[in-house]
Amino acid sequence: MTMPAEPPAVVPHVGLFDSGIGGLSVLRALVRRLPAARFCYVADTAFTPWGDRPPGWVVARCTQLSQWLIDQGADLVLVACNTGTTQAIAALRAHWPQVPFVGVEPGIKPAVAASRNRRVAVLATTGTLRSHRLRQLLDHHAGDASVLRLPCPGLAEAIERADASDPALLAHLDEIAARLGESGADTVVLGCTHYPLVAEALQQRLGPAVRLIDTAEAVARRVASLLPHAAPAPTPASGAPLQLRATGPAQALERAARRWLGADAAVQPLALPPPGAADPV
Ligand code: DGL
Repeated sequence: MTMPAEPPAVVPHVGLFDSGIGGLSVLRALVRRLPAARFCYVADTAFTPWGDRPPGWVVARCTQLSQWLIDQGADLVLVACNTGTTQAIAALRAHWPQVPFVGVEPGIKPAVAASRNRRVAVLATTGTLRSHRLRQLLDHHAGDASVLRLPCPGLAEAIERADASDPALLAHLDEIAARLGESGADTVVLGCTHYPLVAEALQQRLGPAVRLIDTAEAVARRVASLLPHAAPAPTPASGAPLQLRATGPAQALERAARRWLGADAAVQPLALPPPGAADPV
């Protein structure tokens, strides 16, 4: 008697994007949690950074990038960017009610829970700090803690441009560490996906008593729980098939993928015109 053939395992396909290399800090956690899933990562390097752009522009750009990923067959779209999530995810969910979207938001709740002295700081872009969504997170989760909102203009760009030993990047980190030291915060939220890529250098400056909060692991758990089919068990040959795309220069993404994911995937160009008047804003 011949046994019916096993149906082929369906491999979940996650599409994710950021303004640049920052989303790799989330992809790193995702690849560990879902080693047999497929990932398509888009870095919007033609228009990075997004941190100071008007909210309508961010919504329109996130809509274009999501559309492209959905057209590629993504089962789920991860907005691997706090600036994009806080300003655009509600519009994306309204636009595609049938597609699961996951976002990355500043971890106010875990930071307040972890703080012993009730002083917390949030490092993020101006766009994130000004967003209505951040206001909501603070209203819901800050409780009796005092929360310093510290915009870090230029930091995501410096991380994008440079390696971790670049003097200009280190000067940025010195300045931020000094501000954080003055604030007395014992818990610091990394509210931009670029910042975990320099967490070690920042931690060295702040000392071991200050705790950094990165939500990448929690986001990866959430993605895994929402995928329409469980990822098959990885085989020795599996290793996540990874597609990397850049809308502009590719070098930073190539270098960062090698460093943070150990991935040698070549970055392919993606031509995506700037958001125009016809796009939903
Ligand atoms: N990685 C981003 C974030 O999480 C965007 C930084 C930027 O482009 O300004 O906010």
